[in-house]
Amino acid sequence: MTQSIRIHEIGNYMLRQYLLETPQGWIALDSGYAGGFSAYRHKLEKRTSIGQVKYVFLTHSHNDHAGFLTELVQKSGAQLILNEQSLPRLARGENVMPEGTGFTTRAGVMLSALMKRSSFPPVLPDETTVILRSEVDQPFLAAGLPIRVVFLPGHTADSIGLYLEETRELLCGDAAGNAIIAPARQAIVIEDVPAFAASWDKIISLDPRCIYPSHGNPFGVEDLVRFRSKLDDLTLFYPKKH
Ligand SMILES: [Fe+2]
Repeated sequence: MTQSIRIHEIGNYMLRQYLLETPQGWIALDSGYAGGFSAYRHKLEKRTSIGQVKYVFLTHSHNDHAGFLTELVQKSGAQLILNEQSLPRLARGENVMPEGTGFTTRAGVMLSALMKRSSFPPVLPDETTVILRSEVDQPFLAAGLPIRVVFLPGHTADSIGLYLEETRELLCGDAAGNAIIAPARQAIVIEDVPAFAASWDKIISLDPRCIYPSHGNPFGVEDLVRFRSKLDDLTLFYPKKH
């Protein structure tokens, strides 16, 4: 069977909110900013009922992705699927920016203070949470869905994405971007440049037909091929230390 998974998007250019319609129910990718659940639910229910969301897949633990995660999981009754490395970050309910985290533009540095101040309701796992420790853990494939979890660290250590094997489409979270806020398909924030570059190499070797970022418009893998060498000598910008 082909074309069994359909991608929906109910966010906007600055923050995409993807939903996957599958034969086994709907998968929500991430949530959105704290306080955004009502608006999100309103948009979602133009496509399906909240109870049809069977899984919530977290691409990483930044506040624009995890802001109303707990509410979404509780109101839908969905199973939360996340990277083990997201757990300590989610428990804090704030953006964690480890030593060395930098910005790909000078303007982006201005976001640093905002990111540090942006809190969200802490997210704690329950007995239904699926905790992924490596790519050996493939809950969707195990359930018979042609959706592969791909670990894509670099933007954050806990970044993961979903690859739709039948249609060769990749939902990459912030492992790459295509919004005006960052250049050359990069993320605006990078924790680890070599890891970020290695994740691009992994994406390129997957050879997806289309890449859906969380910020900006979908694009082809040829963009990553074109811009990959920029990551070899990428200079990040850092906020001034106080
Ligand atoms: Fe992010």
